[in-house]
Amino acid sequence: MTHNVLVMPGDGIGPEIINEAVKVLQACNDKFGLGLSVDSALLGGAAIDATGGPLPEETLSKAKACDAILLGAVGGPKWDGLEMAIRPEKGLLGIRSELGLFGNLRPAILYPQLADASSLKPEIVSGLDILIVRELTGGIYFGQPRGIRTLENGERQGYNTYVYSESEIRRIGKVAFEAARARNGKLCSVDKANVLEVTVLWREIMDDMAKDYPDVELSHMYVDNAAMQLVRAPKQFDVMVTGNMFGDILSDAAAMLTGSIGMLPSASLDVTGKGMYEPCHGSAPDIAGQGKANPLATILSAAMMLRYSLNEGAAADAIEAAVSVVLDQGLRTADIASNGCQTVNTETMGEAVVSALLNG
Ligand code: IPM
Ligand code: MG
Repeated sequence: MTHNVLVMPGDGIGPEIINEAVKVLQACNDKFGLGLSVDSALLGGAAIDATGGPLPEETLSKAKACDAILLGAVGGPKWDGLEMAIRPEKGLLGIRSELGLFGNLRPAILYPQLADASSLKPEIVSGLDILIVRELTGGIYFGQPRGIRTLENGERQGYNTYVYSESEIRRIGKVAFEAARARNGKLCSVDKANVLEVTVLWREIMDDMAKDYPDVELSHMYVDNAAMQLVRAPKQFDVMVTGNMFGDILSDAAAMLTGSIGMLPSASLDVTGKGMYEPCHGSAPDIAGQGKANPLATILSAAMMLRYSLNEGAAADAIEAAVSVVLDQGLRTADIASNGCQTVNTETMGEAVVSALLNG
């Protein structure tokens, strides 16, 4: 059997980190006989430069046909001046939406070796293992109407619409309840139900769904408090579920607890479990092309891809173990640099994971 994987390097540090992740995938392929076949496609700024648009037809059709997608990152100052509809980010949002990738899993796990890279005290974060389930194809990111209009008095006004339908809430709720059931049985739903009607409905649906999951302990938290609790006592959380924008923000905060956003993978799944896998961080144009980027989030995303979409759990475990080995060896990219450890570049880090994998 063949697994057809599509890689989309994207922009900024995207190509560098994808290169390393592909090396790791190839090593897994050799070691486990996975039958991986890897194709590539353009997305974001790279696609704009080559074709004029951030999500070319060819990319979309390859994305629909493949078994799983591994994405680097998109965007950069070069394209910031473009109008919203053709910016690199539209390519990313477009592919999430076109493929129906509504279920975004963003685990924040602290590797014990990195406890002192976190901006929080080791005792607050040691043993941290939380999962943020972010709704990815709805909410204010996609709500209509949206735009910038000119009012009668000549003043301009920007507007977006925050909307969730019941079926969208139930769909992401199911992902979250099931994830909580498979973990430690605790689910915290994050909303702003003291102000926003859309999240009053969100809360009501989550409560209703909880009846079907008696083994899961559901709690609710306002998003402002959740942001505070994440940096105050993050270990109180097991699974958190929230809408698109709150999830975007909270997942960056959670990332930092683990030492660096450069460590955080993610999975974006459709109803069948097909998915796109990408690091939670962006394209970091300020360090692009310098070999400074941490490839581990992308490598760990490849592991999630093997586990969730390709059903190759042993290979996924092997990648995660290899990452732990290189951290034990004291190798660190600049973002997780620490006294007594060796600071290495992107390629050295990637190749160290490959060796650890092949020798593991
Ligand atoms: C993310 C990113 C994207 C988002 C951007 C690049 C559009 O921040 O995946 O978290 O906001 O979803
Ligand atoms: Mg984000």
